Amino acid sequence: MPEIDRARKALAAARRVVALTGAGVSAESGVPTFRGEGGLWRNFRAEELATPEAFARDPRLVWEWYDWRRQKIAPLPPNPGHHALAAMERRFGEFLLVTQNVDGLHRAAGSAKLAELHGNIWFTRCTKEGTLRENRAVPLSPLPPRCSCGALLRPHIVWFGEALDPGVLQSAVDACRAADVVIVAGTSSVVYPAAGLAALAKEAGAFVIEINIEETPASGMVDVHLSGRSGELLPGLLE
Ligand code: OAD
Repeated sequence: MPEIDRARKALAAARRVVALTGAGVSAESGVPTFRGEGGLWRNFRAEELATPEAFARDPRLVWEWYDWRRQKIAPLPPNPGHHALAAMERRFGEFLLVTQNVDGLHRAAGSAKLAELHGNIWFTRCTKEGTLRENRAVPLSPLPPRCSCGALLRPHIVWFGEALDPGVLQSAVDACRAADVVIVAGTSSVVYPAAGLAALAKEAGAFVIEINIEETPASGMVDVHLSGRSGELLPGLLE
């Protein structure tokens, strides 16, 4: 049986489904991935800017990078991969979309059962009070932005070296443990703890489907690896 048919068959029999997405799912909308071409800004890598140390040293520089990314993302629409995931939420009795993406495109496509593991670029957080506010201004001015209390605002993003929101992570872990099928799409599977979720699901008995244009460290453990673009293969799974 062709791999895609094995994946479709597993999905057709599933009741509890989890999808875990990464930057590759947004690539066909035009959002640059982190580790691919276009992931560099002024020759900085994400790992050099997405850290609390970088923000403490130069909040303006870090905000300039996020402002650049916000400007790039703002006009971009969700693609057929995002729409297929929103359709899965409507189709399956229990569904959770666990995403590492901060671009907000899953929400834009209509997904609501969503665990945003790494935060959301359209929200700011007060560094003193912790208050979250949606802010869609592009460009942002002045930089760095400040809270009405006077403290610096930061992007509501989980940076390297920071812990994920324990409640959000727990919901992802619980869903992966209970899932019949887990679809891992468009992620390099190198950033933990997100990268560990597929293995956890597999150990708990889930059928794991990986969708990626290349092999990843997870490819060896999955039940089906579908090689290709998520914008084509995610809708294809539902046919
Ligand atoms: P990466 O940039 O590491 O990986 C993107 C993956 O998507 C790669 O494996 C590509 O092969 C694949 N890919 C690219 N285009 C694709 C397409 N059209 N269809 C299917 N697959 C495609 O992005 P993430 O795995 O999301 O963290 O990176 C994980 C985290 O590291 C990010 O959330 C971010 C980053 O630093 C934070 O910002 C906290």
